Amino acid sequence: MEPTTVVTPVTSWYRATARDLPWRSPDCSAWGVLVSEVMLQQTQVDRVLPLWRAWMDRWPTPQSLATAPLDDVLRAWDRLGYPRRARWLWQAAQIIGTRFDGAVPDDEILLRELPGIGPYTAAAVAAFAFGKPSVVLDTNVRRVLARAVLGEAHPPAHITAAERTLAESLLPTQNAALWSVAVMELGALVCRARDPRCAECPIADQCAWRAAGYPQAAHPRRTSRPFAGSDRQARGAIMAVLRESDTAVTADAFPINDPTQQARALQTLIDDGLVHHDDGTYILPGRS
Ligand code: ADE
Repeated sequence: MEPTTVVTPVTSWYRATARDLPWRSPDCSAWGVLVSEVMLQQTQVDRVLPLWRAWMDRWPTPQSLATAPLDDVLRAWDRLGYPRRARWLWQAAQIIGTRFDGAVPDDEILLRELPGIGPYTAAAVAAFAFGKPSVVLDTNVRRVLARAVLGEAHPPAHITAAERTLAESLLPTQNAALWSVAVMELGALVCRARDPRCAECPIADQCAWRAAGYPQAAHPRRTSRPFAGSDRQARGAIMAVLRESDTAVTADAFPINDPTQQARALQTLIDDGLVHHDDGTYILPGRS
C-alpha cells in the first residue's frame, strides 16, 4: 500500500467526521493531553470526558496536581478504574516539577521516564501535544493496519517489530500527528473490532481484508476475563468505601464475601500505595 493513497482520504475523513474532543483542541495544554492519554489507556472516551473536564478545572497544571493531597487525587479519580493511574499521574506531576522545570517533556524517551507512561502513551503525547512524528500504535491503529494493509481481521496479541516497521513506513512526512489521530479515530468509529462499518470507510476500496472476503482471525483473540467476582472488582469495592470515608475503617467495612479475596485485594492496594494500613484499619493515603 502506498502511503499517499491512504493518508489523504483518512485525514480528510477525520477532518470531516471526527469527534470534537477537548484534548484534541489546539488550545489544549500538553498537560491536558497527557492527562487524557493516561485516562484513555483503559477507559472509554464517554466515561473519561466528564472526569477529564473536572480534573483539568481543578488541576490545570502539573504544579497544581503535584501539591494536592493524594487522597483528594484518588477521590477525584472516582470510578474510572485502575486507580494506580491516578497515583502515577500525581507522581508524574511531581517529577515534571522537579526534573523538567514544570513543563511536560516533548521527547518520547523522557516521557517514558514518567510513571504510568509506556511506549504508547509517550508516543501519543509527543504526537498530539507537540506534533512529533512518533509512531502511535494503539489497538485501534493496529487493527486498521492489520486489516487494510495485511488483510488480517485482527492484529497479533502483542506488538511486533513488523507492525512497528509497517506503521513507520506509512507515517507521512507532513502532518504525521494528524494522520496518527485520524487512523486511531477510524479504528474507533468505523473499523471497529466486531462490526466494522465498511460502507463509511474512506479506504474501503483499498482494504486488503475486504478484498480477501473478510477472512477470520488466524490467531485466537484474547478474551477478556469476567469482571464480576474478580480481584479487580474487589479492589474497586474497597476503594469506593475508602473514597467515602474521612476516617480509618476496619476490614468489615468492605462488602466482599470471600475473606481470602478481600485480604489479597487489600494487600495489592497497600503495595500499590493506594491504601494506608495501620493497626488493623484502612484509609486512603494522604500527603507524603
Ligand atoms: N485522541 C487522541 N488520543 C486519543 C485516545 N487515546 N483515544 C481517543 N481519542 C484520542
